[in-house]
Amino acid sequence: MLLTERRGYIDCMMLEKCCNNAARRKRTMSELDNSAEAEKPYIDIQNLTKSFTVKGERLEVLKGISLSICKGDVFGIIGLSGAGKSTLARCINRLETPDTGRVIIDGVDILSLSKSQLRRERQQIGMIFQTFNLFEAKTVYQNIAYPLAIRGVKKEKRDRRVREIAEVVGLQEKLSAYPAGLSGGQKQRIGIARALANNPDILLSDEATSALDPQTTLSILELLKDINKTMGLTILLITHELDVIKYTTRNMAVLEDGVISEAGRTGDIFANPNSATGKMFLKVYSELQESYVQGGGI
Ligand SMILES: Nc1ncnc2c1ncn2[C@@H]1O[C@H](COP(=O)(O)OP(=O)(O)OP(=O)(O)O)[C@@H](O)[C@H]1O
Ligand SMILES: [Mg+2]
Repeated sequence: MLLTERRGYIDCMMLEKCCNNAARRKRTMSELDNSAEAEKPYIDIQNLTKSFTVKGERLEVLKGISLSICKGDVFGIIGLSGAGKSTLARCINRLETPDTGRVIIDGVDILSLSKSQLRRERQQIGMIFQTFNLFEAKTVYQNIAYPLAIRGVKKEKRDRRVREIAEVVGLQEKLSAYPAGLSGGQKQRIGIARALANNPDILLSDEATSALDPQTTLSILELLKDINKTMGLTILLITHELDVIKYTTRNMAVLEDGVISEAGRTGDIFANPNSATGKMFLKVYSELQESYVQGGGI
């Protein structure tokens, strides 16, 4: 087989996989809860390392990360600032290329993909950012439509999808507004809608709520939980807020200076943290809870 034919064949295989994924996505979480598929790793991260060289100094950020995340899970990653959370998220969708290790998503090693295959695979992975990353000069409609336009989706279909997804995130009345005229929560809803526009299988949420007030945070977390249930999306939720992890995730991992120090059921880790960072987070958390109860102040 010629190289070009082989590439075409691989592209077709990838396209077929995308179609199969779309069909599988239609299944709800309750169906997945009862299936063996919910138990096998969907995102399989194996011994991932990543370092940066800054001013001639090598900084090891990820030091051999291994993690398994099941299809349809809401999986939390918690860690202190600088622990490597965003770097890990960016290695999963290959915005960063890891030095060593593997990232296997639904059986496909994304580190072995060509540029065109990677572009297609990335459509399966939506990402929401702490700082929203919106186009300020574009309307809400244009922001949500952007990834569809990039993919070459025809105008009529694009229009249908933008309106459909705007309704999911509750922005149907704001489509002609500009981000500057919206609240933080509404901006983050644009970010979520844009991440969902291409109907992804996976949503990477990197500190999506840390710039928001508690009530808006709650509404965004409700939205993410709802999306997980109704669309069967696998969500990787990265945060340094323990409340967010406790409220939203089924399973979690603690990232400590580039290493996973513990991982498991969220309830189990909350009940009995083993790692230094896990213990520290829980200690601060329970002290804060206690001081709320006692009405403590300065
Ligand atoms: N492109 C880069 N070039 C150089 N250093 C980087 C780069 N990206 C991240 N780092 C460094 O890697 C380390 C981990 O950064 P990362 O953003 O992954 O941390 P984080 O856990 O997401 O932190 P935060 O909670 O503050 O967002 C930091 O020391 C950071 O300065
Ligand atoms: Mg970060």
